Amino acid sequence: MKLTSIVSSSGVCRGLLARALPSERFWRAYVRHIPILRDSEQLQIIRGKMTDRFSLKPDDRAVDLGCGTGTWISEIAPKVASVTGLDIEMGMLRQAASSVQNNVQLVCGRIEAMPFKSDYFDVVGSILAVGYVDDQDAAISEIVRITRPGGRIIIVTPIVDADFSKVLKAEAASRGFSEIIGDRQNILKLLKGAAAAYVFGTLAELKAASGQWHFYTEKELAGRFMTLGLDVLYAERVYADQAILMDVRKPFLTLT
Ligand SMILES: C[S@@+](CC[C@H](N)C(=O)[O-])C[C@H]1O[C@@H](n2cnc3c(N)ncnc32)[C@H](O)[C@@H]1O
Repeated sequence: MKLTSIVSSSGVCRGLLARALPSERFWRAYVRHIPILRDSEQLQIIRGKMTDRFSLKPDDRAVDLGCGTGTWISEIAPKVASVTGLDIEMGMLRQAASSVQNNVQLVCGRIEAMPFKSDYFDVVGSILAVGYVDDQDAAISEIVRITRPGGRIIIVTPIVDADFSKVLKAEAASRGFSEIIGDRQNILKLLKGAAAAYVFGTLAELKAASGQWHFYTEKELAGRFMTLGLDVLYAERVYADQAILMDVRKPFLTLT
């Protein structure tokens, strides 16, 4: 099995637990549950919508911010020139590294201080990661900085007061009641998934981390990009209506 090497920026991924922010400790715990949640149909729908909206081109340079185990990266890599996956959690990147294509680079680093050139990427995607960054001003301005003029950004991030139990219900419904009841393995899988979604590691980690999260209304998220001179092209609710998908373009001339 090919293993893509992982570039670590500013040593964050090798950092000791003691130096990690509460939200970073949380993701370290969450990584244990990822194999259960990776099959999520709700996430599959989101990835499909993002890929369609981007209308990817063979010479595009794409980046996935908070790429996790790299599922979207693997889906788009055959359609573009290169894809970079950035994540704070080495455990996620290790799983991504075992299955990604040759035109993929994996980078360990923080969205709020990215080791990428300005105006570099044509396609900037992020699925359920930006809202978990403590410093939102830094995160959004970094996202805008690395996007080339004329490039596109699609962010999926939880709405204010997101109720993730609705996502679980939608997940259960889409798998089919009879299929779940008829198959013991599926029942166990669903129960483990539910436990993971509610507990995510330990409650203490979740409590400490969630104080640093920032979930948005459409208006607030759009406002953040518009203030920086970007054009908001489109927004819709996804993830059983618990997240916003926002499609934004960086114009050739931006206000400074
Ligand atoms: C809910 S998971 C989503 C993973 C992936 N986008 C997907 O759809 O499967 C959130 C991801 O964001 C990453 N993350 C959280 N805070 C981050 C930060 N400040 N910088 C980079 N990645 C971060 C986590 O490690 C985790 O992999």
